[in-house]
Amino acid sequence: MAPSSLPHCCFVAACVAAMAFIDLLSATPIGAQPLDPHFYDKSCPAALPTIKRIVEEAVAVEPRMGASLLRLHFHDCFVNGCDGSILLDDTPLFTGEKNAAPNVNSVRGFEVIDRIKAAVNDACRGNVVSCADIVAVAARDSVVALGGPSYDVPLGRCDARTASQAAANASIPAPTSSLAHLASTFASRGLSVADLVALSGAHSLGFARCTNFRDRAYNETTSGTLDGPLAASLRAACPRVGGDDNLAPLDPTPARFDGGYFAALTRRRGVLHSDQQLFFAGGVTDALVAFYGANLEAFGRDFADAMVRMASIGPLTGRRGEIRYNCRKVD
Ligand code: HEM
Ligand SMILES: *[C@@H]1O[C@H](CO)[C@@H](O)[C@H](O)[C@H]1NC(C)=O
Ligand SMILES: *[C@@H]1O[C@H](CO)[C@@H](O)[C@H](O)[C@H]1NC(C)=O
Repeated sequence: MAPSSLPHCCFVAACVAAMAFIDLLSATPIGAQPLDPHFYDKSCPAALPTIKRIVEEAVAVEPRMGASLLRLHFHDCFVNGCDGSILLDDTPLFTGEKNAAPNVNSVRGFEVIDRIKAAVNDACRGNVVSCADIVAVAARDSVVALGGPSYDVPLGRCDARTASQAAANASIPAPTSSLAHLASTFASRGLSVADLVALSGAHSLGFARCTNFRDRAYNETTSGTLDGPLAASLRAACPRVGGDDNLAPLDPTPARFDGGYFAALTRRRGVLHSDQQLFFAGGVTDALVAFYGANLEAFGRDFADAMVRMASIGPLTGRRGEIRYNCRKVD
């Protein structure tokens, strides 16, 4: 069997043995194929245009879906790498990540990923494109659809055959996090403090639920880190008791990818405690926030570069993964 005739993701025993044999011959570390933006150029040239079309349709119907798809990618990548683990449904015998604390009632976009996967399976005449790659490309296409920068997405990830609720609970930083905690969480995934700031610019899009900004709305005006008029509008959206799922936009233009998020932070108008930690915490990030607030182009460039780094966290390649036919369950 020639290496080129092997599927790039495989788990069944024969496939594992064949790959190990080829690895012996070629002295390539098992599963070490690098990700490559042109990965599907030959095996399924229709894949990327199909993903783009469905993302554009979904964002046209509901602009917030672009924000939700971007966040889905982040929550996939921070839990054991970008391996589509977040897409697995719970079953009576299996508990995955969907109901983990940072995700439950919060992460969205699964139906759009299902639609894309079905259309891509059709377009490729088979199960060729991994769910993890689809999530990564859908995030990029969402950013572009809402006016943000484009970039080439490295491809060739495999899908995990399992998921961990405990890891999801522990790996995704909470909105109560301090700057030090945010920085160390990102550092443990190979992302710098500059990456943390650039990637946080994703909060230029989308919404947060009351339960995630209530303490800030009611308790942070006295600390001088929350603008008075913003506090008033957050309180109006979020009673002290109840209304946990009421929404507030994360920046003044939640359907436009711009530098408004950073400009807001410099005016103490971050919606989440963790957002405002990037400015006024007296940290090294203050200067970057001010810079991005005034330089949309620099922000777009650095965001795109940081997204490529985030999309490359712990990719599953080679013999440890699979390509799921249905993103919700292992094959
Ligand atoms: C730095 C640490 C981060 C924290 C603490 C954080 C926390 C949160 C929280 C609490 C929400 C609101 C969820 C809800 O209320 O249901 C949210 C929304 C969002 N986050 Fe983050 N986030 C972080 C970084 C990121 C990154 C790196 C990205 C993407 C690159 C991202 C993209 C988004 C988007 C787009 C939304 C809006 C989603 C929607 O409207 O459906 N976040 N984030
Ligand atoms: C994850 O967090 C949720 C909510 O706090 C909790 O109910 C669940 O037991 C946690 N799961 C694990 C495996 O620790
Ligand atoms: C605010 O702080 C008080 C006292 O520290 C605490 O009891 C309360 O739960 C916090 N949150 C809100 C929404 O008031």
